[in-house]
Amino acid sequence: MIRAESLVKEFRSYERGTGLRGGLATLFNRSYKSVRAVDAVSFELEEGARTAYIGANGAGKSTTVKMLTGIMTPTSGRCLVNGREPYLNRRRAALDMGVVFGQRSQLWWDLSVPDSFRILRRLYRIPDSVYQRNLRLYREMLDIDALGTTPVRQLSLGQRMRAEIAASLLHDPRVVFWDEPTVGLDLRLKESVRELITHANRELGTTVLLTSHDIGDITAICDRVLVVDRGRVIHRGTVRELAGTATSRSVLFGHQEGLGEEETLTRVRSVLPGSAASVMEDGRFRVDYPSAAFGSREVLSILLEHFEVTDCYAPEPDLESVVREIYGAGTGAV
Ligand SMILES: Nc1ncnc2c1ncn2[C@@H]1O[C@H](COP(=O)(O)OP(=O)(O)O)[C@@H](O)[C@H]1O
Ligand SMILES: [Mg+2]
Repeated sequence: MIRAESLVKEFRSYERGTGLRGGLATLFNRSYKSVRAVDAVSFELEEGARTAYIGANGAGKSTTVKMLTGIMTPTSGRCLVNGREPYLNRRRAALDMGVVFGQRSQLWWDLSVPDSFRILRRLYRIPDSVYQRNLRLYREMLDIDALGTTPVRQLSLGQRMRAEIAASLLHDPRVVFWDEPTVGLDLRLKESVRELITHANRELGTTVLLTSHDIGDITAICDRVLVVDRGRVIHRGTVRELAGTATSRSVLFGHQEGLGEEETLTRVRSVLPGSAASVMEDGRFRVDYPSAAFGSREVLSILLEHFEVTDCYAPEPDLESVVREIYGAGTGAV
């Protein structure tokens, strides 16, 4: 079980003025700016939950995961993982956790993968039967043997990620935190990774918190989603209904008004302010309108009022474009 209670993380950095005077001012005033990377985040994940934690770059995802895994202590608020605050006793917390940071290795850089696994086996006191069972699985699914005795530092990103993923699951953790785990993997390996985590969740009830840009990861692994923006959770719901949160919707239509293409586009933009209009290859028109400003019925009636509409179609927003929208948003956080 994972619980975040008004979790806050602030980073302080000294503001440097420009030039000598700025530098001196910094020295004397010690003025600093403060970034609230995580701003009062609260959520609760039940045992066995599969939740995606998504948001634009800089939204605060990794910082949240660092607090949940005990790498960072919150500025205020607290979090509980399996009933404990992980940053109070990181070693103890690690026993029940599996962690993958796409950007940051958990392995020993000078050791080979088999040596790293032997160390993990001792650190986590993994029973023989569990260790052998898991190794068999990773040989098969992640082709771990192919990594040989090469030191981790010499592995490619894809090879290292395979080892990281195997290492994070080796001790049958109750909770896994995966931050961009499929970065650098080809499609076949991505699928194996998705299968592994789904398998652990199904067979062992492993709780999963996943951060990923990859819509395939999100839909294959998770059923619920938390969307973060500038350190705050701005949406929580199911992956299935996520498509409904699109900020823009589209409608395709044709008409038999005596109007040229340019005139049609101009008229669309004027009757549906804030929308974008374009001509499609088949001669129909496509309108992308902000869903906060217009309902779909309203758009239809406006089009009917201003054009002699011959056909009209409103495609469902797809998950892919919603996730792209969320990740592409970019935060104003500085
Ligand atoms: N160690 C740090 N020191 C100062 N600022 C940081 C540090 N880590 C992250 N930040 C800032 O906190 C914000 C959130 O970062 P992060 O949690 O890595 O976002 P995400 O994982 O969603 O891309 C960003 O503005 C980032 O620059
Ligand atoms: Mg991150």
